[in-house]
Amino acid sequence: TIFDEARDGAIHVAHELADLIRRKQAQGEKAVLGLATGSSPIGVYQELIRLHREEGLSFRNVVTFNLDEYYPMKPDELQSYVYFMHEQLFDHVDIPPENIHIPDGTLPIEQVKMYCQQYEQQIEQAGGLDLQLLGIGRTGHIGFNEPGSGLTSATRLVKLDALTITDAAKDFIKEEFVPLRALTMGVGTIMKARKIILMAWGEGKAKILQQTVEGHVSDEVPASFLQQHPQVQVIVDQWAAQEL
Ligand code: GLP
Repeated sequence: TIFDEARDGAIHVAHELADLIRRKQAQGEKAVLGLATGSSPIGVYQELIRLHREEGLSFRNVVTFNLDEYYPMKPDELQSYVYFMHEQLFDHVDIPPENIHIPDGTLPIEQVKMYCQQYEQQIEQAGGLDLQLLGIGRTGHIGFNEPGSGLTSATRLVKLDALTITDAAKDFIKEEFVPLRALTMGVGTIMKARKIILMAWGEGKAKILQQTVEGHVSDEVPASFLQQHPQVQVIVDQWAAQEL
C-alpha cells in the first residue's frame, strides 16, 4: 500500500496494531507483537502513545519481543535498542515490564548461544508472534539479517554488513564506535509470525524495496524471503515506492 506521506502510513500501521490489541483484549487473550527499532517505526509508536492517552488503548495484555540489539551493548547506553524502545514507546504506555523482551547485549560470549535458543523458546511459549513489525536496511536486512542469512535462520549472533555500519554511524558519532556484531531474530523466526508488516519511507529505500518486492527470492536480499509469507503487508510512502 502506497501512502503519499510516511505519517499517514505510520498511522495506518498503528491502527492495525491497535485493532489487534483490542481484539485480543476482547477475547481475554494476549497480543504478542514483534517490534522493530530504527527511524521507520517511530511514527507508529507516536500514534500508539496518542491512542493510549486519548482513546484509552491499554497495553496490559501486550507481550513484546524486539527483533535485535547491538552486541556488545549496555541497556543504558543511548544507542541501545533497550533505551530506544523505552524512550519511544514503553515508558509512555501501561505495558507490564515483565511482558517486554529485548535481546540482551550484555551477555558474555559463551552464554550467547544458549540465550538465543531461549529467546526462540520464549516466543513459542508466548504462543508465537501474532504480528511482526519490520523496517528494512539498505542491505536488504530485516532485523539484522544481513545478506547471506538463510530462510530458516534462528535468533543468533551476527556480523554487521559494512553498509549497515556506515548507516548506523550517525547514532554513534563515529563509524569506529559502531559495534561490529548484533543479536537478531532469524529470518526463520520472523517468517513464523502469523502476520508481518514491512514499512519503508523515503527515496533512500526505493532501490532495496524494489528488489525486495519484485526481485528474485534470495539470501542476497534477505527481505525478499517475505515474498513467500502468506500474510505480509508492505506499507510505503510515495518516495520509497518510486522504483516499483
Ligand atoms: C537497523 C535495525 C533494523 C531496521 C534498520 C532500518 O539496522 N536493526 O531492524 O529495519 O535499522 O532503519 P531505519 O528504519 O532507521 O531506516
